[in-house]
Amino acid sequence: MSTARTIPVWMSINTPPGGWSDLPSAKALDVAVVGAGIAGLTTALALLREGRQVTVIEREGVGAGETLRTSAHLSNALDDRYYTLARQHGEDGAKLAAASHAAAIDFIESLCRDSVDGCGFQRIPGYLFGHDGDVSQLEKEAEAANAAGVRARLIGAGDEAPAVLGPLLRFEQQARIDIGAYMRHLAQEVRDAGGRFVRAEVTNIEGGSTCRIVFRDGSTISAQTVVAATNVPIHETNATYMKQAPYRSYVVAGEAPSNLADALYWDTADAYHYVRLFRDGDGKDWIIVGGEDHKTGQDDDPTAYVRLQEWTRERFPDAGPFTHAWSGQIIEPVDGMAFIGADPDNDNVFLITGDSGNGLTHGTLGALLVCDLVQGRDNPWTQLYDPARKPVRAAGEWIRENANAAFQFRDWLKPSAIGDADDIPLGGGAVLRRGVHRVAVYRSGDGELHAFNARCPHMGCVVRWSGEEKSWDCPCHGSRFEGATGAILNGPTSEPLAPMEWKE
Ligand SMILES: Cc1cc2nc3c(=O)[nH]c(=O)nc-3n(C[C@H](O)[C@H](O)[C@H](O)COP(=O)(O)OP(=O)(O)OC[C@H]3O[C@@H](n4cnc5c(N)ncnc54)[C@H](O)[C@@H]3O)c2cc1C
Ligand code: FES
Repeated sequence: MSTARTIPVWMSINTPPGGWSDLPSAKALDVAVVGAGIAGLTTALALLREGRQVTVIEREGVGAGETLRTSAHLSNALDDRYYTLARQHGEDGAKLAAASHAAAIDFIESLCRDSVDGCGFQRIPGYLFGHDGDVSQLEKEAEAANAAGVRARLIGAGDEAPAVLGPLLRFEQQARIDIGAYMRHLAQEVRDAGGRFVRAEVTNIEGGSTCRIVFRDGSTISAQTVVAATNVPIHETNATYMKQAPYRSYVVAGEAPSNLADALYWDTADAYHYVRLFRDGDGKDWIIVGGEDHKTGQDDDPTAYVRLQEWTRERFPDAGPFTHAWSGQIIEPVDGMAFIGADPDNDNVFLITGDSGNGLTHGTLGALLVCDLVQGRDNPWTQLYDPARKPVRAAGEWIRENANAAFQFRDWLKPSAIGDADDIPLGGGAVLRRGVHRVAVYRSGDGELHAFNARCPHMGCVVRWSGEEKSWDCPCHGSRFEGATGAILNGPTSEPLAPMEWKE
């Protein structure tokens, strides 16, 4: 997988079954789905089952975005807590949220049942525990979750999990999956249903009675309907980017401890921690632990992986050794619900974005919702996920995230931390000042320097160096670029970093 330097525990896929096809040279497409992550492939399958002709356009490989960087908990016990969701979306909204994520888990389960190996799908309980032993938050969430239709009950410390976790809130009917196996199966289903995969990078999508898709090489193709399932929209739309914020999340995996039941676990800390078990194809049991989230491009901390291991060993002393570590991008909508549905700025274009930590279920329910909308059917979730909604009941968070993004422009005024390229170590990078310019300079393993204009092509913030992923990360809206080439790793940018001449 070339989207980043760290390697997840899941098997990578890259090429779809049957390989990549060419785009038809002149004909308009029926449905084009841009992005072959869980959201894109599930949408493709749902629309193929409706008899539509679907072309999936992907720049990298199957699951090569965030989908294979997940920890793959399947949960309708949502990260944002039902007492918060009920405040922001009303009690009916919280009920719809619970039902939609439950429907997504059911959909995944039914697809796994048709697979040869079951894709590691298993229904298991989920446990929320207090990071400081405080049960009041658990009690509040128990009441709100039950009101929303998610069965939850308090369990005493040590009754079903190591006592060190304290009292737990147990949720029924959660699940886990082997996401590598699932994406392989999903891609096969898309292929078998007549879907076509094209490898190409899209730079813009224009809506209309016929939509136009623009590619990196300048070529274009038209389509009746386009679904932008690129994790964040990379085309010109104002629908979402001011209403969601990008975070990095870190994961480590190692040998599973003996005293942990097969379940999902997560705590109430901010940033929170999440834990699950995973049995690989060789029968080896792993513990997967994630967390230590921070805003993309802000407060990067190379000790995140060490802290995750320490956190794990404090609770499960015989866990490890840890052999895998990776990070990924999570897009947090300010009101906790993804943005799924018609793009208000582009006719016949549909969006699936704002995944949050529940992105596998958000992506799956997003596909079911978009399928209905494309086919002109009503869907009870339309309003809850409408990309055009104004998150007024989450106004505080909305203002905070945008003020935070605006504040990052101060980098244009700050001096560089490193004054000279000589101080950049092998495999390291830094933003240097050259007159009015900021230059992002990377020194590769052989000592060669690679220089780029550090101005993020999205809206002009200055990118920052991430030592863990060896990438240039934008602190404003989360665009990320490969350290040595400046190629796009994450949107919303649709342009790579511009190369620059560098003279020592
Ligand atoms: C560390 C971590 C842990 C997580 N844990 C969980 C969890 O336990 N449970 C859960 O439900 N969710 C979890 N998530 C979230 C979940 O994994 C993601 O939300 C979900 O996989 C996103 O799927 P997607 O299809 O929307 O995006 P992606 O998987 O990113 O797919 C988008 C695709 O679009 C392609 N693309 C982008 N731009 C272009 C372009 N211009 N042209 C062509 N193709 C393009 C990309 O290459 C990519 O393949 C986690 C995420 C992370 C990072
Ligand atoms: S991502 Fe918006 S300015 Fe960089």
